[in-house]
Amino acid sequence: MRRLALIAVALGALAACKQTAAGNAVAPAPEANSGTQVKNATGGMIPDRSYKSPAEHLFVDKCGMCHRAMGMGTVILARRVDPKIAMLEQRNDLTRDYVITAARNGIGNMPRMQRGEVSDQQLAVIAGYLAKGKP
Ligand code: HEC
Repeated sequence: MRRLALIAVALGALAACKQTAAGNAVAPAPEANSGTQVKNATGGMIPDRSYKSPAEHLFVDKCGMCHRAMGMGTVILARRVDPKIAMLEQRNDLTRDYVITAARNGIGNMPRMQRGEVSDQQLAVIAGYLAKGKP
């Protein structure tokens, strides 16, 4: 009887976990391609490493693991900004200076990136790509 009660408690805890997970998944309903939801939940997700320019290639190499779909940066930013623009590449408000400062000093949960990881020259190219030609 005691064992049964223990099992019941354990099952209850499991059910509670499930509920939280489901609650989070449902929370704000982001647009189709916000990068904060796995599209094929059963098959997992293949990271998008595609690029069409050398600058985009650098971004994919240095930042994409966190800032493309389902990356830690995208998912965390979705709580701070409109989930539609949680992916840095979908934003129009980023300036070069802001991107460089964020990367060099770190910001919130993002660790700072040292010159050994991404050189000044590389970061300048990435900043230009994200700022879309703005200063
Ligand atoms: C290890 C994962 C990781 C990597 C790699 C990473 N970032 Fe981030 N980034 C984050 C996280 C997480 C946040 C959200 C920080 C927060 O709000 O707490 C963030 C936020 C940012 C922001 C701030 C956006 C805003 O609205 O304030 C910028 C800009 C940014 N990252 C640029 C970059 C660039 C450029 C690179 C590549 C050179 C890069 N990040 C690489 C995790 C990462």
